[in-house]
Amino acid sequence: MKKYFVIGNPINHSLSPKLHNHWLKQNNINAVYEKIKLEENEIENFLLKIKNQEINGCNVTVPFKKTVIPFLDKLSSEAKQTQSVNTISFHNNNLIGHNTDVAGFEKAMIKLNYEVQDKKILILGAGGVVPSIIYVLDKMKASKIIISNRTMKKAEDLKSQFDKISIVKWGEAPDFDIIINATSLGLNNESIDLDSSNIGQGKLFYDVIYNPNETNFLKLGKKLGNQIENGKLMFIYQALEAFKLWHNVEPNVNNKVLNLLDND
Ligand code: ATR
Repeated sequence: MKKYFVIGNPINHSLSPKLHNHWLKQNNINAVYEKIKLEENEIENFLLKIKNQEINGCNVTVPFKKTVIPFLDKLSSEAKQTQSVNTISFHNNNLIGHNTDVAGFEKAMIKLNYEVQDKKILILGAGGVVPSIIYVLDKMKASKIIISNRTMKKAEDLKSQFDKISIVKWGEAPDFDIIINATSLGLNNESIDLDSSNIGQGKLFYDVIYNPNETNFLKLGKKLGNQIENGKLMFIYQALEAFKLWHNVEPNVNNKVLNLLDND
């Protein structure tokens, strides 16, 4: 039986096993998908197990999306450009790093039917998923991408990777069309301290978090009269792309799959 994992730290809350095991069963694939918490010094050994084919592939989540890169033989173009790997496969004796967060976010924006071209975007956060989001927004021709992160240094590191972005101080809210919460604030019912006095209507509030379904950030967007969207589709589509890479099968995204991730 083939074996797949999601590696991260912490990993307890990952819903990837639920989703992948559902699709494996639905498609009669003889494989299992589990989560495993690793320390940084255990990563190299874990990846060797993929090379030995004891394990067949893995997803990578916070905080290891960059850490795994030196241990891989090849990177997809998206993984190389974002310096972020969330899926690892083994092909022709090579460990290959892919970034399916890119396709996940892009498909989620397309499904939303939201025209990103010429829009001003404010991204809150500078963590693991932000390079993928910037990459997609740039590809979709956003006119301006502004980053606001509590730790300024991390925003500046992103700026050296993506010349096009600008940076504002944490807590500032310059004019935007789309605001994206890519911090972990909201996972445990936290609010984000945003000056909402000038935000107004006609904006899109997007939260990468999908559990809870509606964070305080999204509640604020709604209260101000704006469109809101959580990160559920992004999560599902990044998993779908990984599933396709490993199994050569396109799994279904239907109501059953959407409901599977409702843990509220
Ligand atoms: P990582 O930073 O390890 O990649 P992440 O979950 O991808 O982890 O990112 C966490 C994001 O949430 C970061 O942007 C983090 O800000 P810092 O870079 O300043 O750490 C942000 N974050 C987490 N807790 C926060 C808080 N209490 N206030 C503001 N931002 C917070």
